[in-house]
Amino acid sequence: MNINKVADNIYFVGVNDRVTTRFEGLWSLPYGVSLNSYLIRGEKVALIDTVSVGDSNNLIANLNLVSSKIDYLIVNHMEPDHSGAIPEIIAHNPGIKVVTNKIAIGMIKGFYHIDDDSVFMEVKDGDTLDLGNGQTLRFYMTPMVHWPETMMTYLESSKMLFSGDAFGTFGALSGEILDSAYLFEDFENEMRRYYTAIVAKYSVHVQKALKKLAGVELEYICPTHGPVWHDYINEVVDAYNNMSLQEPEDGVVIVYGTMYGNTAAMAEQVATSLRAEGVKTVKIYDAGATEMSFILRDIWRYKGLIVASPTYSMDLFPPIEALLTALRIREIKNRVTAALGSFAWAPSIAAKKIEQRLTEMGLTVADTFSVKLALNEASLQSLRELSHKFVELLNTPN
Ligand code: FEO
Repeated sequence: MNINKVADNIYFVGVNDRVTTRFEGLWSLPYGVSLNSYLIRGEKVALIDTVSVGDSNNLIANLNLVSSKIDYLIVNHMEPDHSGAIPEIIAHNPGIKVVTNKIAIGMIKGFYHIDDDSVFMEVKDGDTLDLGNGQTLRFYMTPMVHWPETMMTYLESSKMLFSGDAFGTFGALSGEILDSAYLFEDFENEMRRYYTAIVAKYSVHVQKALKKLAGVELEYICPTHGPVWHDYINEVVDAYNNMSLQEPEDGVVIVYGTMYGNTAAMAEQVATSLRAEGVKTVKIYDAGATEMSFILRDIWRYKGLIVASPTYSMDLFPPIEALLTALRIREIKNRVTAALGSFAWAPSIAAKKIEQRLTEMGLTVADTFSVKLALNEASLQSLRELSHKFVELLNTPN
Protein backbone atom coordinates (compact mmCIF):
# COMPACT_ATOMS: atom_id res chain seq x y z
CA MET A 1 0.00 0.00 0.00
CA ASN A 2 1.38 3.30 -1.05
CA ILE A 3 -1.04 6.22 -0.70
CA ASN A 4 0.04 9.84 -0.63
CA LYS A 5 -2.23 12.86 -0.61
CA VAL A 6 -1.20 15.37 -3.29
CA ALA A 7 -3.78 18.00 -2.31
CA ASP A 8 -7.34 18.00 -0.97
CA ASN A 9 -9.26 15.18 -2.65
CA ILE A 10 -6.31 14.26 -4.89
CA TYR A 11 -4.27 11.14 -4.18
CA PHE A 12 -1.28 9.32 -5.58
CA VAL A 13 -2.36 5.68 -5.90
CA GLY A 14 0.52 4.44 -8.05
CA VAL A 15 3.32 2.03 -7.25
CA ASN A 16 7.07 1.94 -6.75
CA ASP A 17 8.78 -0.66 -8.89
CA ARG A 18 12.11 -1.71 -7.40
CA VAL A 19 12.10 -5.09 -9.15
CA THR A 20 12.27 -4.32 -12.88
CA THR A 21 15.90 -3.98 -13.88
CA ARG A 22 15.48 -2.59 -17.41
CA PHE A 23 12.92 0.05 -18.42
CA GLU A 24 11.57 -0.66 -21.91
CA GLY A 25 13.83 -3.72 -21.70
CA LEU A 26 16.79 -1.38 -22.29
CA TRP A 27 17.54 1.25 -19.68
CA SER A 28 18.91 0.22 -16.30
CA LEU A 29 17.01 1.10 -13.14
CA PRO A 30 19.47 1.12 -10.25
CA TYR A 31 17.10 3.26 -8.17
CA GLY A 32 13.83 1.74 -9.42
CA VAL A 33 11.00 3.70 -11.01
CA SER A 34 7.57 4.83 -9.91
CA LEU A 35 4.44 4.27 -12.01
CA ASN A 36 2.16 7.13 -11.08
CA SER A 37 -1.59 6.94 -11.04
CA TYR A 38 -3.72 9.68 -9.48
CA LEU A 39 -7.24 9.73 -8.11
CA ILE A 40 -9.40 12.87 -8.00
CA ARG A 41 -12.54 12.97 -5.89
CA GLY A 42 -15.30 15.39 -6.97
CA GLU A 43 -18.95 14.34 -6.94
CA LYS A 44 -17.63 11.91 -9.50
CA VAL A 45 -14.33 10.08 -9.10
CA ALA A 46 -11.64 10.11 -11.79
CA LEU A 47 -8.52 7.99 -12.04
CA ILE A 48 -5.72 9.39 -14.18
CA ASP A 49 -3.62 6.72 -15.86
CA THR A 50 -2.92 3.28 -14.40
CA VAL A 51 0.18 1.12 -13.93
CA SER A 52 1.76 -1.89 -15.64
CA VAL A 53 -0.17 -5.15 -15.80
CA GLY A 54 2.13 -6.73 -13.21
CA ASP A 55 1.22 -4.03 -10.68
CA SER A 56 -2.56 -4.14 -11.23
CA ASN A 57 -3.24 -5.77 -7.87
CA ASN A 58 -1.24 -3.10 -6.02
CA LEU A 59 -3.16 -0.35 -7.81
CA ILE A 60 -6.50 -1.98 -6.95
CA ALA A 61 -5.42 -2.31 -3.30
CA ASN A 62 -4.45 1.37 -3.19
CA LEU A 63 -7.72 2.42 -4.79
CA ASN A 64 -9.74 0.43 -2.27
CA LEU A 65 -8.33 2.67 0.47
CA VAL A 66 -9.61 5.91 -1.03
CA SER A 67 -12.67 5.19 -3.15
CA SER A 68 -15.20 2.39 -3.54
CA LYS A 69 -15.75 3.16 -7.24
CA ILE A 70 -14.32 5.07 -10.17
CA ASP A 71 -16.56 6.91 -12.61
CA TYR A 72 -13.95 7.99 -15.14
CA LEU A 73 -10.60 6.58 -16.19
CA ILE A 74 -8.58 9.31 -17.92
CA VAL A 75 -5.97 7.81 -20.25
CA ASN A 76 -3.23 10.34 -21.00
CA HIS A 77 -0.75 7.84 -22.40
CA MET A 78 -0.99 4.30 -23.71
CA GLU A 79 2.51 2.90 -23.21
CA PRO A 80 1.93 -0.31 -21.26
CA ASP A 81 3.75 0.92 -18.13
CA HIS A 82 0.66 3.14 -17.68
CA SER A 83 -2.06 1.29 -19.54
CA GLY A 84 -1.44 -2.30 -18.42
CA ALA A 85 -4.06 -2.16 -15.65
CA ILE A 86 -6.85 -0.69 -17.82
CA PRO A 87 -8.67 -4.06 -18.21
CA GLU A 88 -8.60 -4.62 -14.42
CA ILE A 89 -9.91 -1.13 -13.70
CA ILE A 90 -12.76 -1.58 -16.18
CA ALA A 91 -13.58 -5.00 -14.74
CA HIS A 92 -13.72 -3.62 -11.17
CA ASN A 93 -15.88 -0.60 -12.05
CA PRO A 94 -19.06 -1.44 -14.02
CA GLY A 95 -20.32 1.61 -15.88
CA ILE A 96 -16.92 3.34 -15.88
CA LYS A 97 -16.17 5.64 -18.82
CA VAL A 98 -12.69 5.59 -20.33
CA VAL A 99 -11.97 9.19 -21.28
CA THR A 100 -9.32 9.69 -23.94
CA ASN A 101 -8.67 10.66 -27.55
CA LYS A 102 -9.39 8.79 -30.75
CA ILE A 103 -5.88 7.41 -31.24
CA ALA A 104 -5.73 6.09 -27.68
CA ILE A 105 -9.13 4.42 -28.07
CA GLY A 106 -7.76 2.52 -31.07
CA MET A 107 -4.72 1.49 -29.04
CA ILE A 108 -6.86 0.28 -26.11
CA LYS A 109 -8.87 -1.86 -28.50
CA GLY A 110 -5.71 -3.24 -30.08
CA PHE A 111 -3.67 -3.83 -26.94
CA TYR A 112 -6.43 -5.08 -24.64
CA HIS A 113 -9.26 -6.27 -26.93
CA ILE A 114 -11.81 -3.93 -25.33
CA ASP A 115 -14.22 -3.48 -28.22
CA ASP A 116 -17.39 -2.18 -26.52
CA ASP A 117 -17.62 1.40 -27.81
CA SER A 118 -20.01 2.37 -25.01
CA VAL A 119 -17.04 2.19 -22.59
CA PHE A 120 -15.31 5.12 -24.26
CA MET A 121 -15.81 8.88 -24.03
CA GLU A 122 -13.74 10.52 -26.76
CA VAL A 123 -12.29 13.95 -26.03
CA LYS A 124 -10.56 16.50 -28.22
CA ASP A 125 -8.13 19.32 -27.56
CA GLY A 126 -9.63 21.85 -25.14
CA ASP A 127 -12.60 19.69 -24.10
CA THR A 128 -13.58 19.73 -20.42
CA LEU A 129 -15.09 17.24 -18.00
CA ASP A 130 -16.88 18.46 -14.87
CA LEU A 131 -16.46 16.08 -11.91
CA GLY A 132 -18.59 18.24 -9.62
CA ASN A 133 -17.54 19.95 -6.37
CA GLY A 134 -15.61 22.51 -8.38
CA GLN A 135 -13.32 19.95 -10.01
CA THR A 136 -13.14 20.46 -13.77
CA LEU A 137 -10.67 18.71 -16.04
CA ARG A 138 -9.43 20.22 -19.30
CA PHE A 139 -7.65 18.11 -21.90
CA TYR A 140 -4.69 19.21 -24.00
CA MET A 141 -3.51 17.10 -26.91
CA THR A 142 0.31 16.90 -26.82
CA PRO A 143 1.18 14.35 -29.51
CA MET A 144 4.61 12.67 -29.52
CA VAL A 145 5.41 13.49 -25.91
CA HIS A 146 6.02 10.55 -25.97
CA TRP A 147 3.64 8.66 -28.32
CA PRO A 148 1.15 10.02 -30.89
CA GLU A 149 -1.85 9.62 -28.59
CA THR A 150 -0.24 11.52 -25.70
CA MET A 151 -2.42 14.11 -24.01
CA MET A 152 -2.27 16.03 -20.75
CA THR A 153 -5.06 16.73 -18.27
CA TYR A 154 -5.36 19.96 -16.31
CA LEU A 155 -7.32 20.26 -13.09
CA GLU A 156 -8.32 23.90 -13.13
CA SER A 157 -9.24 24.34 -9.44
CA SER A 158 -5.81 23.20 -8.21
CA LYS A 159 -3.82 24.45 -11.21
CA MET A 160 -2.54 20.91 -11.48
CA LEU A 161 -1.23 19.43 -14.73
CA PHE A 162 -1.20 15.66 -15.19
CA SER A 163 1.58 15.65 -17.72
CA GLY A 164 2.16 12.03 -18.72
CA ASP A 165 5.82 11.21 -19.34
CA ALA A 166 6.76 14.88 -19.62
CA PHE A 167 8.69 16.02 -16.54
CA GLY A 168 9.01 12.38 -15.40
CA THR A 169 12.05 10.82 -13.78
CA PHE A 170 13.58 7.45 -13.19
CA GLY A 171 14.02 6.61 -9.51
CA ALA A 172 11.34 5.22 -7.20
CA LEU A 173 9.78 7.46 -4.58
CA SER A 174 10.90 7.04 -1.02
CA GLY A 175 7.96 7.75 1.25
CA GLU A 176 6.46 10.88 -0.32
CA ILE A 177 5.10 11.98 -3.68
CA LEU A 178 5.52 15.76 -3.31
CA ASP A 179 8.88 17.20 -4.33
CA SER A 180 8.96 19.44 -1.24
CA ALA A 181 10.06 16.38 0.75
CA TYR A 182 13.20 16.08 -1.39
CA LEU A 183 16.11 18.09 -2.70
CA PHE A 184 15.89 18.86 -6.43
CA GLU A 185 19.30 17.16 -6.74
CA ASP A 186 17.73 13.92 -5.47
CA PHE A 187 15.94 13.57 -8.81
CA GLU A 188 17.72 15.87 -11.26
CA ASN A 189 20.14 13.31 -12.70
CA GLU A 190 17.44 10.69 -13.06
CA MET A 191 15.10 13.26 -14.63
CA ARG A 192 17.79 14.11 -17.19
CA ARG A 193 18.54 10.42 -17.81
CA TYR A 194 14.84 9.69 -18.30
CA TYR A 195 14.50 12.59 -20.71
CA THR A 196 17.50 11.58 -22.80
CA ALA A 197 16.62 7.89 -22.93
CA ILE A 198 12.88 8.19 -23.47
CA VAL A 199 11.82 11.66 -24.62
CA ALA A 200 14.81 13.37 -26.29
CA LYS A 201 13.98 11.95 -29.72
CA TYR A 202 10.77 14.00 -29.55
CA SER A 203 12.31 17.28 -28.41
CA VAL A 204 10.60 19.25 -31.18
CA HIS A 205 7.24 18.04 -29.89
CA VAL A 206 8.24 18.86 -26.31
CA GLN A 207 8.82 22.43 -27.46
CA LYS A 208 5.38 22.50 -29.12
CA ALA A 209 3.80 21.26 -25.89
CA LEU A 210 5.69 23.81 -23.78
CA LYS A 211 4.50 26.60 -26.06
CA LYS A 212 0.93 25.31 -25.97
CA LEU A 213 0.97 25.26 -22.17
CA ALA A 214 2.85 28.53 -21.77
CA GLY A 215 -0.25 30.42 -20.61
CA VAL A 216 -1.46 27.70 -18.24
CA GLU A 217 -0.94 28.50 -14.55
CA LEU A 218 0.90 25.67 -12.83
CA GLU A 219 0.92 24.99 -9.11
CA TYR A 220 1.57 21.26 -9.49
CA ILE A 221 2.93 19.05 -12.27
CA CYS A 222 1.98 15.40 -11.81
CA PRO A 223 4.00 13.21 -14.20
CA THR A 224 3.67 9.48 -14.74
CA HIS A 225 7.08 8.83 -13.15
CA GLY A 226 8.83 10.44 -10.20
CA PRO A 227 7.71 13.16 -7.80
CA VAL A 228 4.91 15.67 -8.17
CA TRP A 229 6.63 18.95 -8.91
CA HIS A 230 5.51 21.89 -6.78
CA ASP A 231 8.47 23.57 -5.08
CA TYR A 232 10.79 22.89 -8.04
CA ILE A 233 8.44 23.66 -10.97
CA ASN A 234 10.68 26.44 -12.27
CA GLU A 235 13.75 24.22 -12.13
CA VAL A 236 12.13 21.30 -13.93
CA VAL A 237 10.44 23.44 -16.60
CA ASP A 238 13.71 25.30 -17.24
CA ALA A 239 15.60 22.01 -17.53
CA TYR A 240 12.98 20.68 -19.97
CA ASN A 241 13.19 23.83 -22.02
CA ASN A 242 17.00 23.64 -22.22
CA MET A 243 17.06 19.91 -22.93
CA SER A 244 14.43 20.15 -25.68
CA LEU A 245 16.03 23.23 -27.25
CA GLN A 246 19.43 21.52 -27.03
CA GLU A 247 21.09 24.45 -25.33
CA PRO A 248 23.91 22.58 -23.56
CA GLU A 249 25.94 23.73 -20.57
CA ASP A 250 29.69 24.26 -20.44
CA GLY A 251 31.50 20.96 -20.03
CA VAL A 252 32.93 18.04 -21.96
CA VAL A 253 32.05 14.35 -22.12
CA ILE A 254 34.80 11.97 -23.22
CA VAL A 255 33.49 8.55 -24.13
CA TYR A 256 35.67 5.71 -25.27
CA GLY A 257 35.69 2.02 -26.01
CA THR A 258 38.78 0.08 -25.12
CA MET A 259 39.99 -3.50 -25.17
CA TYR A 260 43.41 -3.35 -23.57
CA GLY A 261 43.59 0.18 -22.22
CA ASN A 262 45.34 2.08 -24.99
CA THR A 263 42.24 4.00 -26.14
CA ALA A 264 41.39 4.60 -22.47
CA ALA A 265 44.86 6.11 -22.01
CA MET A 266 44.13 8.54 -24.86
CA ALA A 267 40.92 9.59 -23.15
CA GLU A 268 42.65 10.08 -19.79
CA GLN A 269 45.37 12.16 -21.43
CA VAL A 270 42.82 14.36 -23.18
CA ALA A 271 40.99 14.85 -19.86
CA THR A 272 44.23 16.02 -18.25
CA SER A 273 44.85 18.40 -21.13
CA LEU A 274 41.29 19.78 -20.95
CA ARG A 275 41.74 20.46 -17.23
CA ALA A 276 45.02 22.21 -18.00
CA GLU A 277 43.12 24.34 -20.52
CA GLY A 278 40.71 25.37 -17.74
CA VAL A 279 37.68 23.16 -18.46
CA LYS A 280 35.94 22.68 -15.10
CA THR A 281 33.48 19.93 -16.04
CA VAL A 282 34.95 16.83 -17.64
CA LYS A 283 33.06 13.52 -17.58
CA ILE A 284 34.74 10.33 -18.80
CA TYR A 285 32.86 7.14 -19.65
CA ASP A 286 33.95 3.71 -20.80
CA ALA A 287 31.13 2.80 -23.19
CA GLY A 288 31.73 -0.89 -22.61
CA ALA A 289 31.36 -0.56 -18.85
CA THR A 290 28.57 2.00 -18.35
CA GLU A 291 24.97 1.51 -19.45
CA MET A 292 24.32 3.87 -22.33
CA SER A 293 21.59 6.03 -20.78
CA PHE A 294 24.03 7.44 -18.21
CA ILE A 295 26.38 8.48 -21.02
CA LEU A 296 23.57 9.90 -23.17
CA ARG A 297 22.35 11.92 -20.18
CA ASP A 298 25.64 13.77 -19.85
CA ILE A 299 26.20 14.12 -23.58
CA TRP A 300 22.79 15.78 -23.74
CA ARG A 301 23.78 18.11 -20.91
CA TYR A 302 27.19 19.35 -22.03
CA LYS A 303 28.48 21.17 -25.08
CA GLY A 304 31.70 19.22 -25.73
CA LEU A 305 31.89 15.61 -26.90
CA ILE A 306 35.03 13.60 -27.59
CA VAL A 307 34.56 10.06 -28.91
CA ALA A 308 37.36 7.48 -28.99
CA SER A 309 37.37 3.97 -30.39
CA PRO A 310 39.82 1.30 -31.45
CA THR A 311 39.49 -0.35 -34.82
CA TYR A 312 37.53 -3.53 -34.16
CA SER A 313 36.81 -6.12 -36.85
CA MET A 314 37.51 -3.42 -39.43
CA ASP A 315 34.87 -1.18 -37.89
CA LEU A 316 34.09 0.77 -34.72
CA PHE A 317 34.12 -0.85 -31.28
CA PRO A 318 30.49 -2.06 -30.90
CA PRO A 319 29.46 0.03 -27.82
CA ILE A 320 30.74 3.18 -29.58
CA GLU A 321 28.87 2.22 -32.74
CA ALA A 322 25.68 1.81 -30.67
CA LEU A 323 26.21 5.13 -28.90
CA LEU A 324 26.68 7.02 -32.16
CA THR A 325 23.49 5.42 -33.52
CA ALA A 326 21.60 6.49 -30.39
CA LEU A 327 22.83 10.07 -30.85
CA ARG A 328 21.81 10.09 -34.50
CA ILE A 329 18.35 8.78 -33.66
CA ARG A 330 17.93 11.58 -31.09
CA GLU A 331 18.98 14.18 -33.67
CA ILE A 332 21.63 15.69 -31.44
CA LYS A 333 22.86 19.11 -32.49
CA ASN A 334 24.80 22.11 -31.28
CA ARG A 335 27.90 20.29 -29.99
CA VAL A 336 31.65 20.70 -30.47
CA THR A 337 33.24 17.29 -30.99
CA ALA A 338 36.51 15.51 -31.65
CA ALA A 339 37.29 11.98 -32.86
CA LEU A 340 40.05 9.74 -31.54
CA GLY A 341 41.09 6.36 -32.86
CA SER A 342 43.57 3.65 -32.07
CA PHE A 343 44.75 0.63 -34.00
CA ALA A 344 47.30 -2.13 -33.81
CA TRP A 345 47.64 -4.35 -36.91
CA ALA A 346 44.38 -3.44 -38.70
CA PRO A 347 44.04 -0.18 -40.65
CA SER A 348 43.48 3.10 -38.83
CA ILE A 349 39.79 3.58 -39.59
CA ALA A 350 38.09 4.31 -36.24
CA ALA A 351 38.76 8.05 -36.00
CA LYS A 352 37.71 8.55 -39.62
CA LYS A 353 34.49 6.63 -39.06
CA ILE A 354 33.68 8.61 -35.92
CA GLU A 355 34.39 11.87 -37.72
CA GLN A 356 32.15 10.79 -40.59
CA ARG A 357 29.30 9.86 -38.25
CA LEU A 358 29.56 13.10 -36.27
CA THR A 359 29.72 15.17 -39.45
CA GLU A 360 26.66 13.39 -40.84
CA MET A 361 24.82 14.47 -37.68
CA GLY A 362 25.72 18.07 -38.49
CA LEU A 363 28.08 18.44 -35.53
CA THR A 364 31.28 20.47 -35.58
CA VAL A 365 34.36 18.20 -35.50
CA ALA A 366 37.27 20.20 -34.10
CA ASP A 367 39.95 17.61 -34.86
CA THR A 368 40.72 13.93 -35.26
CA PHE A 369 43.74 11.92 -34.19
CA SER A 370 44.81 8.29 -34.26
CA VAL A 371 47.42 6.35 -32.30
CA LYS A 372 49.12 3.17 -33.47
CA LEU A 373 49.64 0.56 -30.71
CA ALA A 374 50.41 2.67 -27.62
CA LEU A 375 50.92 6.31 -26.71
CA ASN A 376 54.40 7.78 -26.95
CA GLU A 377 55.81 11.26 -26.43
CA ALA A 378 54.87 12.40 -29.93
CA SER A 379 51.26 11.24 -29.64
CA LEU A 380 50.92 12.74 -26.15
CA GLN A 381 51.97 16.09 -27.60
CA SER A 382 49.48 15.68 -30.45
CA LEU A 383 46.70 15.02 -27.95
CA ARG A 384 47.66 18.17 -26.01
CA GLU A 385 47.45 20.15 -29.25
CA LEU A 386 44.10 18.56 -30.14
CA SER A 387 42.77 19.50 -26.69
CA HIS A 388 43.92 23.09 -27.11
CA LYS A 389 42.21 23.38 -30.48
CA PHE A 390 39.08 21.74 -29.08
CA VAL A 391 38.82 24.17 -26.15
CA GLU A 392 39.36 27.16 -28.44
CA LEU A 393 36.38 26.05 -30.51
CA LEU A 394 34.38 25.20 -27.40
CA ASN A 395 34.88 28.73 -26.11
CA THR A 396 33.96 30.35 -29.41
CA PRO A 397 30.46 31.82 -29.18
CA ASN A 398 27.95 30.28 -31.60
FE1 FEO B 1 6.16 5.95 -19.01
FE2 FEO B 1 5.95 6.53 -22.47
O1 FEO B 1 5.64 5.65 -20.85
